Amino acid sequence: METLKLQPLLDEIAARMAATSERGQVATYIPDLAKIDPARFGIAVALPSGQILSAGDADLGFSIQSISKVFTLAIALGRLGDQLWARVGREPSGLAFNSILQLEQENGIPRNPFVNAGAIAVTDAILQGHQPREVLGELLRFIRLAADDDEIHINEAVARSEQATAHRNIALAEFMAAMGNLRNPSELTIGTYVHQCAIEMSCRQLASAGRFLMGAGPRLVAPARIRRINALMMMCGHYDGSGEFAYQVGLPGKSGVGGGILCIAPNEASIAVWSPGLNHRGNSKLGTEAIEILAREMGWSVFD
Ligand code: DON
Repeated sequence: METLKLQPLLDEIAARMAATSERGQVATYIPDLAKIDPARFGIAVALPSGQILSAGDADLGFSIQSISKVFTLAIALGRLGDQLWARVGREPSGLAFNSILQLEQENGIPRNPFVNAGAIAVTDAILQGHQPREVLGELLRFIRLAADDDEIHINEAVARSEQATAHRNIALAEFMAAMGNLRNPSELTIGTYVHQCAIEMSCRQLASAGRFLMGAGPRLVAPARIRRINALMMMCGHYDGSGEFAYQVGLPGKSGVGGGILCIAPNEASIAVWSPGLNHRGNSKLGTEAIEILAREMGWSVFD
């Protein structure tokens, strides 16, 4: 019944978004992302049955950027368990994703695993005792298994483009090193981090990869941990826009500066949306609007 309603709804959302002229601003601080066509829009929904419905540019690859932080967090928790929380907090930051402010005030312990500083600490934690290529191999294996798709890869040009302009992230890493919260040379940690962010996926692949977070698909993470990752996505997944996303959508989500959002309706759907233009908080403008409509029309909310 629900599935019958879903495909026409996705088509309607894609048509509505195609007709919208206020599309936000494509990120320019990573030079390769500035080249992406702001007219793109894709949406895909993976259901517990394994069926994936989609509309628009749902088969085009885009840079998942900060959405990769969900997968590295899952790997880090699997490897370190609660010890990870000695190095990174679990509170919303109320500040931009790349802010440096709190890091000094809070002794080099980032607020949460989704702000850049926190994600860099998480990557540094899984890098310890390994080579960057091993960590990236493990991450790709995890994502390919989650999505059931061996084509998923890293876009080297995007990684190099971010690496060349990563001054702010290097500053965050070096400050954490100064405070004793970095275990590897910052160039290794940042090198790994920019490659994880440069993973390219389509909406269909991303929705499929998110199935483990709605409690379906391959069992990659224990249910108790899935609940906690979703809690963090809800509170911190959209940075200083997390409260608004929770208010408007009512589902855990993680955005990326490439314009993607992965959003989870527990036990119901794994949703991926992509529109490259961002709002003033660095989250996809039309992506957010699309998920808002979808969640409302389908009655998906963790608060029901
Ligand atoms: O570190 C950065 O700035 C990027 N690689 C990722 C930031 C990002 O995706 C923020 N999300 N909206």
